[in-house]
Amino acid sequence: MSWLRPLGSTGIQVSALGLGTVKLGRNQGLRYATGFTLPDDASATHLLDRARALGINLLDTAPAYGSSEERLGQLLAGQRQHWVICSKVGEEFEQGQSRFDFSPQHTRASVLRSLRRLRTDVLDIVLVHSDGDDLQIIERMGTLEALAQLKAEGLLRAYGMSTKTVAGGLAAASVCDVVMLTYNLQQREELPVLERCYQLRRGVLVKKALGSGQLPVDTGLALVLAQPGTSAAVVGTIDPAHLQADVEAARRVLDS
Ligand SMILES: NC(=O)c1ccc[n+]([C@@H]2O[C@H](COP(=O)([O-])OP(=O)(O)OC[C@H]3O[C@@H](n4cnc5c(N)ncnc54)[C@H](OP(=O)(O)O)[C@@H]3O)[C@@H](O)[C@H]2O)c1
Repeated sequence: MSWLRPLGSTGIQVSALGLGTVKLGRNQGLRYATGFTLPDDASATHLLDRARALGINLLDTAPAYGSSEERLGQLLAGQRQHWVICSKVGEEFEQGQSRFDFSPQHTRASVLRSLRRLRTDVLDIVLVHSDGDDLQIIERMGTLEALAQLKAEGLLRAYGMSTKTVAGGLAAASVCDVVMLTYNLQQREELPVLERCYQLRRGVLVKKALGSGQLPVDTGLALVLAQPGTSAAVVGTIDPAHLQADVEAARRVLDS
């Protein structure tokens, strides 16, 4: 299996491991076992340089990840073309609290703000950041239609949804370019969504492949990357040594 893989039928190629950047911008209200300090600019630059040197081209961020988008925009100045950037719409994180707005108006304003923060003319992927009520969002909110319009205007290349339910994932697979879902050694319920995406040639980004740090790296990544249909596992780390270990484990799986 190759390291660079098609993101469904979008025409975008992503590395088998992507870097999740929530820990670059937010350290409140997260479900990690231990707390952490946000890395300073030198450490964040070093992490991004290591990611690129290790062959990672995919970065996952979101407005709900605190200062993540803004920091990436600043730290990646001059190297935009080397990265596939995935951001989100729908969740805002302010004063330690999440709130959700899936309206078409907010969706457009959020994408325009992400473009400014990330200092780019086009976002590669934009996902709806679900609050858990996936079907309600897909069927009633007009969020995906707003993203389709932004894609038609050339402001993003692919869109989809980060879902939290099997029914929502299946519904998203039928209307989106990309689905982000949870799949790991302890949470396999969303496998039918992954399989449906494979049948329909949708891109699949797997979140929490390591169970937010609770699962073994080798077997955790083997499960996710060996599954036909997985485009990339998005791993969240701010430790360059962990990132290297994750990439080495992923490459072992792909070479075996
Ligand atoms: N759309 C959504 O609703 C949503 C929800 C959750 C996550 N995500 C995305 O998915 C990404 C990953 O999710 P996640 O961070 O919850 O889960 P994860 O990737 O399963 O686990 C990340 C945790 O594992 C640790 N880790 C990584 N590699 C390690 C290694 N080699 N050895 C020991 N520990 C290691 C990291 O700590 P260190 O920093 O110490 O390495 C971090 O705390 C996020 O960054 C985000 O981009 C999206």
